[in-house]
Amino acid sequence: MVAQLLELAPAGFLEEENAVVVYTDDAGLAELRAQFDQVEVDPVLPGWEDEWRRFHVPVVVGPLWIGPPWLESQPGLTPVVVDPGRAFGTGAHETTRLCLELLLELDQGSFLDVGCGSGVLAIAAAKLGFAPVHALDVDESAVDAARRNAKANGVDLDVKRANATSDSLPQTDVAAANVTLETVEALGPRIEATHLITSGYLVADEPRLTRFHRVERRTGERFAADLFARE
Ligand SMILES: C[S@@+](CC[C@H](N)C(=O)[O-])C[C@H]1O[C@@H](n2cnc3c(N)ncnc32)[C@H](O)[C@@H]1O
Repeated sequence: MVAQLLELAPAGFLEEENAVVVYTDDAGLAELRAQFDQVEVDPVLPGWEDEWRRFHVPVVVGPLWIGPPWLESQPGLTPVVVDPGRAFGTGAHETTRLCLELLLELDQGSFLDVGCGSGVLAIAAAKLGFAPVHALDVDESAVDAARRNAKANGVDLDVKRANATSDSLPQTDVAAANVTLETVEALGPRIEATHLITSGYLVADEPRLTRFHRVERRTGERFAADLFARE
């Protein structure tokens, strides 16, 4: 269910003891009802749009400080400032953090962020010296957020709206895809990169990618990320 919600509720959801809480609108509610048998609705109080800010806490991954624009970054660290708006990607989610840990191990080169959301991985890559950096997302609000965040961070990103499973993809040295297991597996024949970082699935999931072999796996409490190398 959590993996499905990463796709259905990219702006975020909260896991509670016996339920998962999603802040969404009528269109989002219709999608949730189409996917899940049990959906209960509670109207929310005015100002809910800013409620999520309480959950946008900064994280430190190696030399990177990833946090929102309304907080001061930590001295001595490289700031990656993200305001995700309605896109996924504050940096605090386990999948994003694990992808960043794997990215830090790789040599700099050109970079592609597949399913960029807020642009957090692409901006981090640019700040680490990767260039050129491409980012794409199927969701227009993510494309807008990634462009806005790139500008705010003073980095150059080529951000496009595209579907990674059907549109043509730029060829880069390194690519990252924090999407769903199904989309990750569909990327095997489509991605031209020496290294591919993947996440967006649970620890129990083992993605199978044609033309790539796995060289490393990182796990968090619930999610996993993998580093694949091209055969
Ligand atoms: C879990 S978010 C990852 C955001 C960010 N890269 C991160 O690591 O925090 C997944 C993103 O992938 C996008 N996405 C899902 N399927 C896609 C596809 N087939 N092509 C392009 N983008 C896709 C979603 O719109 C969403 O913004």
